[in-house]
Amino acid sequence: MRSFVGRDILSLADFERGEYCHVFDVADRLKPHALERRNTDLLAHKTLLTAFYQPSTRTRLATEAAMHRLGGHVLGFSDAKMTRAGDFYQESIKDTMKMLEYYGDVIAMRHFQQGAPREAAAWASVPIINCGDGWGEHPTQVLTDLYTIHAELGTLDGLSILCVGDMRMRTMHSILYALSQFDSEAVVVSPPEMSLLDEFKAEIEQRNVRYREVEDVRDALADADVIYMEPVVQADYTKSREEASADKGVTPDRYKVTRQLLAEQAKSSAIILHSLPRMDELPPDVDATRHARYWNEAFNGVAMRMALLALVLGAVE
Ligand code: CP
Repeated sequence: MRSFVGRDILSLADFERGEYCHVFDVADRLKPHALERRNTDLLAHKTLLTAFYQPSTRTRLATEAAMHRLGGHVLGFSDAKMTRAGDFYQESIKDTMKMLEYYGDVIAMRHFQQGAPREAAAWASVPIINCGDGWGEHPTQVLTDLYTIHAELGTLDGLSILCVGDMRMRTMHSILYALSQFDSEAVVVSPPEMSLLDEFKAEIEQRNVRYREVEDVRDALADADVIYMEPVVQADYTKSREEASADKGVTPDRYKVTRQLLAEQAKSSAIILHSLPRMDELPPDVDATRHARYWNEAFNGVAMRMALLALVLGAVE
């Protein structure tokens, strides 16, 4: 297995099965600190820099919370418009990274431009963690999601994973890459204008990912072990920020998972994950069903980011 020390976390496309297992083991080891709300001094001499060029609630704050739990320091920006990268100068990724690498020991970056973290990694001498790049990928979220599935169901093999929503989403790309390492099938349902791109399908087919497309959640819900959701009422992830219009639209029934549908069709053991934020595709009354795991998923996001920070900064092997 490749070492994680000093490594950029940019994509799950080349993550190997043993590496997933190792990250999950480290997250298990560090999770009690988060559960007990107890900070350690594991990264007391390290600093995390968060460079967020797009809005975030969970990813930035979970990563910062993880660093605090490990006793490290945190600085950064959550609005690039208040930096020279976002104002009149539109400072380049190269010039920005050439500064930021002196201010922190690891950089957690979200950007509206697909590939921006990879470009940052080419210039920065410290590890870059991709916290979402345009429609590209969202590796820390999907590591969290897989960790949650493993914790809840005890395996990542032999599962039917129903992926519902906008298949342009970065989470959908990362999870489909990840499934190249596990003996599980993805069943994909999305509006036609939000379906998987042909070149992406060709790539995952070449990686032997098992997937099939259906038109309606009701065609596949009964067999699903995991219901993995994203909105179809969606922002444009290629923009740094987008105001919602008064008429955002509503989610057609074929992309919604309701309490009634779960009661009528879902396996008793099926779990629902949603990286959030949600729109109307997952009504709040589903929260009180036995299927909901998205709050566990959100908590696991702290443990997972603790594991990644500790690994790339060499505090754990
Ligand atoms: N899941 C996720 O990426 O949420 P945020 O946009 O709030 O970080």
